[in-house]
Amino acid sequence: MQVLTFDSADAAATALAARVAREVRDCPQLVIGLPAGRTMIPVYAALLRLGQRDGFDRSRLSTFQVDEFMGLPPGHAGSFRTFLEHHLLNDFGVDAGRTHFLDGRVPPGRECERYERELAAAGGLDLQLLGIGRNGHIGFNEPDATLAARTHVVTLHEETRRANVSWFDGQLEQVPRQALSMGMGTLLNARAIALIATGAEKAEAVAAAVTGAITTQLPASFLQLHAHVEVYLDPAAASRLNR
Ligand code: GLP
Repeated sequence: MQVLTFDSADAAATALAARVAREVRDCPQLVIGLPAGRTMIPVYAALLRLGQRDGFDRSRLSTFQVDEFMGLPPGHAGSFRTFLEHHLLNDFGVDAGRTHFLDGRVPPGRECERYERELAAAGGLDLQLLGIGRNGHIGFNEPDATLAARTHVVTLHEETRRANVSWFDGQLEQVPRQALSMGMGTLLNARAIALIATGAEKAEAVAAAVTGAITTQLPASFLQLHAHVEVYLDPAAASRLNR
């Protein structure tokens, strides 16, 4: 894993956005996996700025959201689709037919199969962007005795529901108990992966993911098996790495 530590959270986000922009410029038909989460907000903001400033072709990109809550109606403020549309896709200029989302309201078995089929038809993920949960989850692949390979239904840990409560007006009971997520195999099949973590609350998970044992109890540790992973950090998120 290539660990890149920047002077600030903003600098890490800007560097990741610049890396994505470079890639899109070189390969306008790039297939990108997009996570939601607070950490991604400055990344997507910087990416929008770069797109507007440099005017590279974004129309032929394909995007796949990483995860989505179960059962939310379209446009719900807590939906990760709404998040991605609001923070990036409404203004980035990707052709609407090339943006792919998980629908948490339809029978999950069929939905997960459809998603994997669409991903395969697009040629697989070229670049997977990722955040990380405090418990080391990636996407919504939660620590467990086993991990799922493909897009699947997840029962969310209480801690993860709490971490997402701000998208639901602070009302924990409003946060769905289940979600859909790309599986570990789906993520690890990406040709390149770029994970970003900022803030001290991520420091333990980052250290365990980068230097700890590979374990299903810390899903991000499986990224050690991938040949092309970059980790973008601010000093706080990197603070447990050099012990
Ligand atoms: C969430 C999402 C992930 C995200 C992670 C970090 O629960 N399932 O896709 O990467 O947790 O989120 P944040 O950046 O808000 O800390």
